[in-house]
Amino acid sequence: MRGKDFLAIGDLESEEIGMLVERAAALKHGERPQVLAGKVLALIFEKPSLRTRVSFEVGIRQLGGQCVYLSKDDIGLGTREPAEDVARVLDRWVDGIVARVFSHRSLEILAERFRAPVINALSDLEHPCQAVGDLLTISEHKGAFDDVRVAWVGDGNNVSGSLALACASVGAGFVMATPEGYRLPSPVWDEASRRAARNESVMEWTASPSEAVQGADVVYTDTWVSMGDEAEADERKAAFAEYQVNAALMDKAKAGAVFMHDMPAYRGNEISEGMIDDARSVVFDQAENRLHGQNAVMVDLFGG
Ligand code: NVA
Repeated sequence: MRGKDFLAIGDLESEEIGMLVERAAALKHGERPQVLAGKVLALIFEKPSLRTRVSFEVGIRQLGGQCVYLSKDDIGLGTREPAEDVARVLDRWVDGIVARVFSHRSLEILAERFRAPVINALSDLEHPCQAVGDLLTISEHKGAFDDVRVAWVGDGNNVSGSLALACASVGAGFVMATPEGYRLPSPVWDEASRRAARNESVMEWTASPSEAVQGADVVYTDTWVSMGDEAEADERKAAFAEYQVNAALMDKAKAGAVFMHDMPAYRGNEISEGMIDDARSVVFDQAENRLHGQNAVMVDLFGG
């Protein structure tokens, strides 16, 4: 990658994203370069995590490094101490930062003040590590991106923002169904649309889940209430009531379509009870591929 950090899919060129996915596939099946030998990374998590935390801890060890985990209460990023002070202190001890934050701005401040790589482990704006793993999963199940159409049903949030940008960058079609008030932020949507236009791929929005899944090879959803949105939970559940992914909606997608979800999944809300265990679900492949995608990011950033 050109930059020292991995903060957003929107910061990367299309070729860089394609190369990360190829590298992730190679790392999944091949040797693991010891690019983190002798290095220690700080994992800063302002929000809970299962997949991201464990896959980073495992990946860092696989690549020869070690890590220190710091929870919200340990640091108080921006409350107990300004993010810039945290960055300048960690700069004296550790060789990289992996951070899950409420505000994307905190990541930018960390990256400005820390000499070595900062990796976004989820912010309010993007979840780029998820997108790299997801492209790997999509390529494993569906082959060449040019022929793939992804339908997003649900919230215009961090996960869908990164996925829209990633799909547009590699030439996969992306059709999004959200309620009008829950569309992606305009800068993210506009950038994804520009990338799709360059690749002559589809980038569309509709309010109708049935319309979105027509002809789709992949149907993807995420929680209606992201971490940080808890105060709006009731309002959101009402707004998204017609946006559940269930077997009947999957039946309207292309034959052979797969179901994806970044998890945690809330049965009875964004998915029906049976969706995780449906024969079309590839959610555990997705979870596994977080590891390989992130390892590719770390090899790229630390491998020189
Ligand atoms: N959109 C969700 C993703 C969780 C991995 C959230 O931000 O809580």
